[in-house]
Amino acid sequence: MTIPLENLFEDYKRHVAKINAALNANLSPCIPLVKKIGDYILQGEGKRLRPLFFVLSCGLCNYTKADIYHLSTIFEYIHVASLLHDDVLDNSELRRKKPSANMTWGNHFAILGGDFLCARAYEIAITSNNMAFVHNITHTLSRLVEGQFRELLYSNNLNISKEAYLDIITGKTALLMSCACACGGIVSGAEDEHIRLLGQFGLNMGIAFQLIDDLLDYTSSEEAFGKPVGKDIREGKITLPLIYALSEQDSCEKNRLGDLLKNNRASEDDYRRLVLTVRNSKAIDKVRQEAISFADRAGRCLDSFADSPYKQGLLALNRYVIQRTN
Ligand code: FPP
Ligand code: MG
Repeated sequence: MTIPLENLFEDYKRHVAKINAALNANLSPCIPLVKKIGDYILQGEGKRLRPLFFVLSCGLCNYTKADIYHLSTIFEYIHVASLLHDDVLDNSELRRKKPSANMTWGNHFAILGGDFLCARAYEIAITSNNMAFVHNITHTLSRLVEGQFRELLYSNNLNISKEAYLDIITGKTALLMSCACACGGIVSGAEDEHIRLLGQFGLNMGIAFQLIDDLLDYTSSEEAFGKPVGKDIREGKITLPLIYALSEQDSCEKNRLGDLLKNNRASEDDYRRLVLTVRNSKAIDKVRQEAISFADRAGRCLDSFADSPYKQGLLALNRYVIQRTN
């Protein structure tokens, strides 16, 4: 059962309301269609995890000035910009249980909408007057794009190693979460060791988040997850559940599947069987255990911080990441 997000921790609703108000206030394009696309991608079932990581990390480092909500929008804008572009790359039809922006307005407008949101994120970052903060964000963006490059280069390659897979999910997902947490420490003027620990917390939690995302792609339902089951393999993404499930198969079967995928000859039936193979394998438990151990590692990164509602909030989000069903 999905955990009601508003019950996650004290003050969740208050922070999200302020984040949402800032997201709306900061989106002020001249062209109505840009606003429409921005609102559309922002209004889906967004959980505002990345702005929350930032706000809570600021609080953890005793920085609670009102401008944290303004700055927190950077992490949501970059995230939704990457989703707008990602849906074009994946030719996805659904995003957050609604027709994707590319299906609604076409690829050109979806890409430009993403470009606008990214540009807006830079503009807001610069208002911080903090070069370490701006640098952390721009560096993360380069690595995010490289994560996506890597994923594309490994498309339909059944020989991908677990290490290469972890590199991909670190780049495309975990680094932005890590950046949101570390940046909370940076704007707060926290000591270097605390900034490093916050970055490590976000990184490990982000890896756990994507492991669960890749697991749900095989185990969930379209209704619960908001995207079709088995979407990853149909898009050529070889994720850890499949890597583990295939390691239980003989090399003959693995080569047969590899040929089908590489030559784009896999039928609907092949995909359905692959999903069942993964579901019936030990891979599901193994990947869940991996996600739990990354989340445990993340939790330990906060050990040296004094207890506070902000710390409890971050730890609750860390637990949510591995328990979520959508
Ligand atoms: C979703 O993954 C995609 C990402 C987390 C990152 C996408 C990054 C880019 C397209 C690089 C360009 C970045 C910017 C900021 C413009 P997924 O396809 O596995 O998840 P999904 O099933 O939700 O689509
Ligand atoms: Mg995608």
